[in-house]
Amino acid sequence: MVVNTGLEGVVAASTRLSDVDGERGELVIAGFPIGELAEHATFEETTWLLWHGDLPSARELDTFRADLAAQRALPASTIALLRECAHGGVDPMDALRIAAGTISMTAGDARAIVARGPTIVAAFWRLRQGADPLAPRPDLGHAANYLYLLTGEAPDPERVRGMETYLNTVVDHGLNASTFTARVITSTGSDLVSAVVGAIGALKGPLHGGAPGPALDMVFEIGDASRAEEILRGKIERGEKLMGFGHRVYKVRDPRADVLAAAAERLFTRAGDMSLYRLARAVESTALRLLEEYKPGRRLQTNVEFYTALLLHGLGLDVPLFTPTFAIGRVSGWIAHAMEQARTNRIIRPQSEYAGPRGRTWVPLSSR
Ligand SMILES: CC(C)(COP(=O)(O)OP(=O)(O)OC[C@H]1O[C@@H](n2cnc3c(N)ncnc32)[C@H](O)[C@@H]1OP(=O)(O)O)[C@@H](O)C(=O)NCCC(=O)NCCS
Repeated sequence: MVVNTGLEGVVAASTRLSDVDGERGELVIAGFPIGELAEHATFEETTWLLWHGDLPSARELDTFRADLAAQRALPASTIALLRECAHGGVDPMDALRIAAGTISMTAGDARAIVARGPTIVAAFWRLRQGADPLAPRPDLGHAANYLYLLTGEAPDPERVRGMETYLNTVVDHGLNASTFTARVITSTGSDLVSAVVGAIGALKGPLHGGAPGPALDMVFEIGDASRAEEILRGKIERGEKLMGFGHRVYKVRDPRADVLAAAAERLFTRAGDMSLYRLARAVESTALRLLEEYKPGRRLQTNVEFYTALLLHGLGLDVPLFTPTFAIGRVSGWIAHAMEQARTNRIIRPQSEYAGPRGRTWVPLSSR
């Protein structure tokens, strides 16, 4: 029996949704190179593309946008739960997971789940700051409404474009851990809310969606390019992983890093302060040189999380919002995979190799 730890190299699904080519550094979303889609599409268009296989017509898009906008509001019971979470100091991803579960109380369809993600995250965030949640604005698109709900200000078009680009860039990515989780849950015949709640749990981990916060913390800790080498060497020598580097599939640069780096550069240029952007670039090149020195042949490259941190910071988001914002983008991909799994379903049920003892005899409690 060959045990495939981490299921590396195992092909467990056939999909029309996305293709990750780790050797060429290419990501295709339903036929579109990621750069093409990320730059032009609204998040509503990308979501429709994944769910229907093609871009929406103008009429389909209008109806879809209106439909999503109409489903954004949360019931009072969910807000009350988020208030408890905020008072209790609950982690933002835990709060998202808890509140996402309540979608089953009133709806549970794909549109409601996507529509309510930003409302949940922003309501929790404002409650955590001691402010009241804002009512969603149906006149704004998905990305613009999210920024509005966080800040209370209608965002300018460049920030909206930055958020659309981010959400599109992370919407889907082959059989990553959270998407696989959603497919496993769906394969048992379970429901969409359960699949999404399970996927949120998988995304939370620092080896998956939890990396951008620590990646930005690392850049802040370094603070000045002249300290990058010393600090990064120390981390590698202590056996720490450099957050934002390395990937199971990409052995060349993650194409999403370039898309996000370009979007971040535009925002920082406009804001007139390039110092953090330049520092991040310097940290990246030092990290890549040191990873090659300490882990020769491992081909560790910059991944999506490194520039996620920079772009979301440029959009004015605080670190605890990074992973929940990733979830707001990835949820459309999770749902698309759940729908695809349900259409062609066979229960996902791998095997394990037993490595424990055999032949034991029962010991009564009094003799243990
Ligand atoms: C993404 C990740 C989980 C992939 O894991 P994986 O495919 O199991 O890769 P491995 O852990 O087998 O890594 C291979 C080798 O490179 C090392 N390595 C991998 N990523 C590293 C990193 N970011 N920093 C330092 N060393 C790293 C491993 O320690 C291992 O070294 P070894 O063979 O001497 O033990 C891993 O690269 C990582 O933890 N990266 C940091 C977290 C991150 O940015 N996650 C977001 C992913 S989009």
